[in-house]
Amino acid sequence: MFTGIIRHLGTLETSHAEPDGSIMLEINAPFSQNLNEGDSVAVNGVCLTVLSHTDTIWTCRLMAETIVKTTIGLLQTGSQVNLELPAKVGDRLDGHIVQGHVDTPCAITDIASHGNDRIMTLQPPKEFLSRITPKGSVALDGVSLTIVDVTNDTFTVSLMPYTLEHTTFGAINVGDLVNMETDHTNTAHWLSGTVLQGDKRGTALGFPTANIALDEHSQMPKEGIYAVRAMIADDPTSYAGALHVGPRPSFEGAAPSVELHIINFAPRDLYGEKIHFTPIEKIRDVKKFASTKALVDAITQDVQQARSILMYH
Ligand SMILES: Cc1cc2nc3c(=O)[nH]c(=O)nc-3n(C[C@H](O)[C@H](O)[C@H](O)COP(=O)(O)O)c2cc1C
Repeated sequence: MFTGIIRHLGTLETSHAEPDGSIMLEINAPFSQNLNEGDSVAVNGVCLTVLSHTDTIWTCRLMAETIVKTTIGLLQTGSQVNLELPAKVGDRLDGHIVQGHVDTPCAITDIASHGNDRIMTLQPPKEFLSRITPKGSVALDGVSLTIVDVTNDTFTVSLMPYTLEHTTFGAINVGDLVNMETDHTNTAHWLSGTVLQGDKRGTALGFPTANIALDEHSQMPKEGIYAVRAMIADDPTSYAGALHVGPRPSFEGAAPSVELHIINFAPRDLYGEKIHFTPIEKIRDVKKFASTKALVDAITQDVQQARSILMYH
């Protein structure tokens, strides 16, 4: 287990393809002489086992799975690599819990300067986007980074000067691939969408809602009413909410919707803004109510239930 705080850089000295398809690597590392056979070291975020070592170099073997799922097999000799030794019990965990089990290689699509920092945009394969938690953590080439923003098919992280200086990110370019490990301690699946113009019926009911057009990568939840955690782009608050997904049989002609009532939210027009949310628990099925009063009573109860569910989430 690692924490994504890089304290050493190393160099790939040699890389040899073996007849069985595996690759043997020799890595020059400042801590080589203190290693033992069988120790784990994270190399660009990939947990590898030490097979042998000298005072300056240690060797490891990449098996087929590692070659397919990570960028390590693509490294050129002479490349610098981010190195991390496993966390010790009693150590400070400055980053977040990183297993060294990479999910996927991920492409860098943009790097922009922002004062002394750099904002890096990445485009992971679509199926991994729901595991990217806005304002959560991700390990990229073994470096623990905070997710700044999530868009339709990309996410951004900010690299500060310290990180640029002490990791391989100082020399990274658009088009490069990095090893991505999502935060495995966070089991929430995040959905994203843009707020559409609603019929404003919700405001009249006393429960204003944001009608959401889901992004392509976000899979429509099953019909129902849910307690959700929600975030609005650029706002660091984690809001509690009650989400409606599906038809609105109480109103003739109303199209199905994904509608979010944000609890304790100072009303403002969210039209066009990005919303991220994760359903925590289903509250009930969608129902047809005979009167507006019956619907309002049901939503009032939903909101109460959502509040108590979300107290510990
Ligand atoms: C928590 C919650 C639960 C809801 N439950 C139902 C329901 O069971 N049946 C229904 O017809 N509409 C339900 N709705 C949808 C309301 O009918 C909807 O908010 C209203 O039509 C306003 O839509 P508008 O914002 O597009 O004007 C629910 C909405 C919320 C926020």
